[in-house]
Amino acid sequence: MNVDGKHYYAIWMKPGNHRIVQIIDQRWLPHRFVVEDLATVEQAARAIGDMHVRGAPLIGVTAAYGMYLAALAAQNESADNFANQMRKAAKMLRSSRPTAINLGWALDRQLEHVGVSGGDIEVQIQSLLNEARAISDEELEACRLIGENGVGIIESISQEKNEETVNILTHCNAGWLACVDYGTATAPIYCAHDRGIKVHVWVDETRPRNQGARLTAWELGEHGVAHTVVADNVGGHLMQHGLVDMVITGTDRTLYTGDVANKIGTYLKALAAHDNGIPFYVALPSSTFDWERSDGVTQIPIEERDASEVKTIRGLSEGEIHSVLLTPEESPAANFAFDVTPARLVTSLVTERGICAASEEGIRGLFPEHFLEKV
Ligand code: MRU
Repeated sequence: MNVDGKHYYAIWMKPGNHRIVQIIDQRWLPHRFVVEDLATVEQAARAIGDMHVRGAPLIGVTAAYGMYLAALAAQNESADNFANQMRKAAKMLRSSRPTAINLGWALDRQLEHVGVSGGDIEVQIQSLLNEARAISDEELEACRLIGENGVGIIESISQEKNEETVNILTHCNAGWLACVDYGTATAPIYCAHDRGIKVHVWVDETRPRNQGARLTAWELGEHGVAHTVVADNVGGHLMQHGLVDMVITGTDRTLYTGDVANKIGTYLKALAAHDNGIPFYVALPSSTFDWERSDGVTQIPIEERDASEVKTIRGLSEGEIHSVLLTPEESPAANFAFDVTPARLVTSLVTERGICAASEEGIRGLFPEHFLEKV
């Protein structure tokens, strides 16, 4: 994606230095564009836990590179110690955030390269780097294909409306910053915009961390896509007044039965969309499917973050970024970071292999290989 005319991915290896991974520290956007160096697995885990990087696909890719950084640090250990260090690194990274399944998925892929090649450490390090790059490239390509597969949805609405503007509501940031490029929910939007289809995006602010107001709005603006930021509670009103043609969000974990975990507040938008007969789409790469769990509300781990994120708000004042207190100092606050939208409220899933119903049958149609053990 372009930032001030220069192309960026959300994560990359530092040019000329194979020991440093670089990320955009998203905590400072949209007011400052800060590139951060990650040189250790501890720094990678902190970047995920403290949300310098966030969004399911990017969390997975960062964890994969984190394993490579851990391997570099253990380069001079014995084969046994190296394998132990790598398992410790995976444990630390795995505990950094619980809901996005891409994290565990990427770590499991990396762990397959540990303890192989007769314990040859140099070979393992190279394999861990290759795998991190492969995961990153696959996520990028999946998002590109989500765009190609999903653009038809927007195109048909545009045709039904005689090419009037298609109004799309989205929640949180499921854009290129949450992935490596393109985004998930935003990929069909960028694709439609690039093809000259008139689109306008209602951007939910997404309290408490305001990923919509800070990140999605910034991304869409950089790409020239018309958008309007709204407070989180506005969506229902917009839908009742015919101002939303479709909703599309990303997801942190979608079960093989079609239940979707996404940023807190997504469920309420799905309820409002259902009540108003508005289609509600969820876009995801296959790395975000959970092939084990079947019931979202009871089985998906929902992250609870620090109450300070609810009690305070960060923003720009007189050229500096400040955090200010919103609530009475003593009031307790609860900070559930995700909720579950049951499959019955999801119109369809948009994936790299195509569009399917949010049901076991629909998902099996596109990804039969994951169901072989279930029959
Ligand atoms: O807490 P975050 O910012 O990591 O949550 C991100 C989301 O909920 C996104 O919508 C989701 O990861 C999909 S990203 C392509």
